[in-house]
Amino acid sequence: MFMEKMKDLKVTWNMTRYEVDEVEGIPLTKKMCDRWNETWAFQAKPDDLLIATYAKAGTTWTQEIVDMIQNDGDLEKCKRASTFERHPFIEWVLHEHTPTGVEQAEAMPSPRTLKTHLPVQLVPPSFWEKNCKIIYVARNAKDNLVSYYHFHRMNQIMPEPGTWEEFFEKYLTGKVLWGSWYDHVKGWWEAKDHYRILYLFYEDIKENPRREIQKVLQFLEKDLEKEVLDKIIHYTQFDIMKENPMANYTTLPPEILDHSISPFMRKGIVGDWKNHFTVAQNERFDADYKQKMAGTSLTFRMEL
Ligand code: A3P
Repeated sequence: MFMEKMKDLKVTWNMTRYEVDEVEGIPLTKKMCDRWNETWAFQAKPDDLLIATYAKAGTTWTQEIVDMIQNDGDLEKCKRASTFERHPFIEWVLHEHTPTGVEQAEAMPSPRTLKTHLPVQLVPPSFWEKNCKIIYVARNAKDNLVSYYHFHRMNQIMPEPGTWEEFFEKYLTGKVLWGSWYDHVKGWWEAKDHYRILYLFYEDIKENPRREIQKVLQFLEKDLEKEVLDKIIHYTQFDIMKENPMANYTTLPPEILDHSISPFMRKGIVGDWKNHFTVAQNERFDADYKQKMAGTSLTFRMEL
């Protein structure tokens, strides 16, 4: 596997922050753009499940919920490997010595669960052709922005975030990896009416994990005993996942993720934006949000 391979090769992580390029106007790392043809040509299989999100919307949380469901609540099975090894991140290209997301997926037996942050128009066409099930999770823009900012600080290979004020502007203008949050959530919202997409919200899972996990169960056509569901709810809570090395990204070296700057499992709450936004930023954000989200039936809760 991935990490073992790095150890075997005795590769040193002499990595620097990624350069950014674009695919059809969407900023992606240059490494991802260089391998884009392979990502676009990826061959999905009918029994693939895709977990799609804008970055920092609760991907890892959803991955853990799905993995626990698929393994009937067997915690040991879910601890078989780190999140990023259990579920290939299809467009991701980390390092020249590690397999790409596509290569990881190709090496994996079916049924596969895959991850993407791609906006809907960049999803490899085979996912639509094979009518794969997709779980999309969206998080309110303000908390998503705060989480993305701290992630850029701790992730030593993401582009430089700049100051909070600078990152705030980049996010509003979509000049961040995977592009505009606004276009992402709206694009997937439209797609859900045409494909097998379960569209969930971070805030809803936080508010009532039992209700939302039941939606996932129904979507995956799984039936679990109440005790198993209780166990899944317990082990996918923020405080428990934060201590789980197979789910909290601490298996990656500090040259990539420096948890001393900001932990990957940072706060896991709704409304942390209030600790970051100034009054002026909030006004500017709200005015801009109103324009960008005009005409969609999609609504978010910024607090619970
Ligand atoms: P914060 O930075 O706001 O704490 P992703 O997995 O898409 O990168 O998203 C990471 C965000 O989801 C982080 O948000 C992280 O703390 C939060 N998260 C991860 N597991 C969670 C859980 N079990 N419950 C609530 N939030 C969780």
